[in-house]
Amino acid sequence: MSQNRYKNFVKDRKNQTQYAKWLMRYTKPFLPSLAVLLFFSLLSQTLSLKMVTVNESIINRATAGNTIKSGILVYVLIMLVSNLLSIVASLVTVVICEKFSFGIRKQVYEKILHTCWLDITKYHTGDLMTRLTSDTEAIANGISATLPTIITLIYQLGASFILLYIRAPFLAISSLLIAPIAVLFSAILGRKLKKLQVKVQESEANYRSFIHESLSNILIIKSFRDEQYSATHLTELRNERLHWILKKNNMSLATSSVINVGFQLGYILAFSWGALQLSSGSIQFGTMTVFLSLVAQVQTPLISLAQTLPKIISILASAGRVIEIQNLPAEQQVEQTIDTTTVGVKVSNLSFGYQPNDQIFDDTSFDIKPGEFVAIVGESGIGKTTLIRLIMSFLQSTNGNISFFNQNGEEETATATSRSYISYVPQGNTLFSGSIADNVRMGRRTATDEEIIEALKASSAYDFVKDLPNGMYTVIGERGHGISEGQAQRISLARALVKKAPFLVLDEATASLDEKTELRVLDGIRQLQPKPTCILITHRRSVLQYCDREIKIDQKQVLPTDLGLM
Ligand SMILES: Nc1ncnc2c1ncn2[C@@H]1O[C@H](COP(=O)(O)OP(=O)(O)O)[C@@H](O)[C@H]1O
Ligand SMILES: [Mg+2]
Repeated sequence: MSQNRYKNFVKDRKNQTQYAKWLMRYTKPFLPSLAVLLFFSLLSQTLSLKMVTVNESIINRATAGNTIKSGILVYVLIMLVSNLLSIVASLVTVVICEKFSFGIRKQVYEKILHTCWLDITKYHTGDLMTRLTSDTEAIANGISATLPTIITLIYQLGASFILLYIRAPFLAISSLLIAPIAVLFSAILGRKLKKLQVKVQESEANYRSFIHESLSNILIIKSFRDEQYSATHLTELRNERLHWILKKNNMSLATSSVINVGFQLGYILAFSWGALQLSSGSIQFGTMTVFLSLVAQVQTPLISLAQTLPKIISILASAGRVIEIQNLPAEQQVEQTIDTTTVGVKVSNLSFGYQPNDQIFDDTSFDIKPGEFVAIVGESGIGKTTLIRLIMSFLQSTNGNISFFNQNGEEETATATSRSYISYVPQGNTLFSGSIADNVRMGRRTATDEEIIEALKASSAYDFVKDLPNGMYTVIGERGHGISEGQAQRISLARALVKKAPFLVLDEATASLDEKTELRVLDGIRQLQPKPTCILITHRRSVLQYCDREIKIDQKQVLPTDLGLM
């Protein structure tokens, strides 16, 4: 084995152990229900073995000319109980499967919400969706179906082997001949199958990402008359997905075909041996039937076990994709230590770049005092939004320090926790589907209707909201569908204002408004009591009359402009 391949092998092994441990952790709460399930399947297995021997005695009694009434009755009874058991087992399986997949899904969802923003945005929404749905389902189905199956199969194999061995040791041993073939095949194909499963899930993610993106940008596709290309591209992505699915299926099919041929050969062997014994009169007809059933009962679990291995490997591959998300670094959360009635922000020696060799800020320092109203200007793409993201701890600076301080000079480092006293209006449309009131209430879940109206008034949104047929209870669609951009911005602003946070961040929050409305909105914000500290990113000069100060981002520095204090 070459050095590299050896390293990969070791890494694979380590990952495999990690994945298996992770799966065990999630399986633990379900062990009691899995045990119930296992009990049912073992019982049903025992009954079906019992059926084989009842069968034998019925045939033997019949050929000897005895009555078989009671035998048939027992046979029917066992059959009914066995059916009942399998119904209960499948009901339990559905419940376990659903609870299990939701358990993982909820944890991963929460994890995504608490992960550093930049790390999670590197994944496409469609990819995350695939991991949250298809991968977790594969894991849940696998655990709830595969785990009890493996144990039942081993039990079936052992019990029927013993029963057969008692009657015909030669047959019992020769029916196991298929085992080495099965194990060898599974081992060879296992690693290949795992890679193929990852490919299948990746192509699924690409496919979903494309659908997700084109559905949310349908207007752009239409306006550029890109419908045909989009449809063709979808087909290409489907074909790629199909390619991997077929490849994976072919691989599984090849395995099962080889094993099946082995199985049939074993059966023919048992059949011929039985026929010879029957003709020489050393066994009865009923015993011959038992031989045949038992050989099948030994071989079936062997084949099923061999087929479970690729399934386990698929589960591990999906687990790997989910674990990748779970292992992303979580945001730092700390206790809030300072009184935040009024807060300012202090940035010292800040350096940051999205890429190591492409810095946006290089060793820059500035501060914004509590209660100040500051405009940030700078050309497009210079780093205004990035600065806000750093202040809000969505991004971590490479060097330097950002902290919040109050009037008493108490200071605390900026972390995700600081967002509890910041109100933010981001660029673009950020509304959710639901009523306008629901959207505003997201700013503060406990806000009363009166407080929502007050916030809508302060953001100059109430003028149009009150004229809507259902007022603030009017339902808007995804991303504010049904209202204009400028109206959506004023609702986002109301959402920020209802929070009554001491620190307000407006990132081109009034860009879609006409100048008159924008000035009215800003005037509304200036009148707020208590007066919040406010950072405002804008391109309009006229806005500056409402600001105490203007700072400019230029040449990787945040600098006071010539205007300085106005
Ligand atoms: N998530 C990101 N990953 C990598 N680069 C980014 C990301 N967001 C922004 N940038 C880059 O950082 C620079 C500053 O962007 P931004 O802060 O959004 O500018 P603006 O001043 O227009 O708000 C731009 O060159 C942009 O390409
Ligand atoms: Mg920006």
